[in-house]
Amino acid sequence: MADPVKLLLVVAVALVDPDGRVLLAQRPPGKQLAGLWEFPGGKIEPGERPEETLIRELAEELGITVKEACLAPLTFASHAYESFHLLMPLYVCRRWEGFVQSREGQALKWVRPRDLASYPMPPADLPLLPALVDLLGP
Ligand code: C5P
Repeated sequence: MADPVKLLLVVAVALVDPDGRVLLAQRPPGKQLAGLWEFPGGKIEPGERPEETLIRELAEELGITVKEACLAPLTFASHAYESFHLLMPLYVCRRWEGFVQSREGQALKWVRPRDLASYPMPPADLPLLPALVDLLGP
């Protein structure tokens, strides 16, 4: 019998600043897909809801506090990597408390929606761009 497909559940967020720019984070050296630019987020731990994961990850990675009511689901990625299948909802968040800072040494960039496609991204993230540009405009 074939091995079951490993399913990886990750949640990601498009943080949108008052100028309509979106935050990208660069995957650090040593990690899989190092150097690529992604939407911040992380793995959903057992027992967590996606919104709880995002609140935890954004506090750990960026030092900000997001309220659950500020998180709106937009679309999701479904991508077959070689050793696992990734399911990744993308949320949008326009309001948070605190200043965005790199807590884990990752480079951060605020990017206009029309410029997102010029950043090299993990293959799961790329198909998320049209829905985001539709929502935010260029
Ligand atoms: O960030 P982390 O290494 O925990 O993510 C697990 C895997 O999920 C990565 O190795 C990558 O293949 C995938 N991923 C992705 N796009 C993201 C976040 C993670 O494709 N924005």
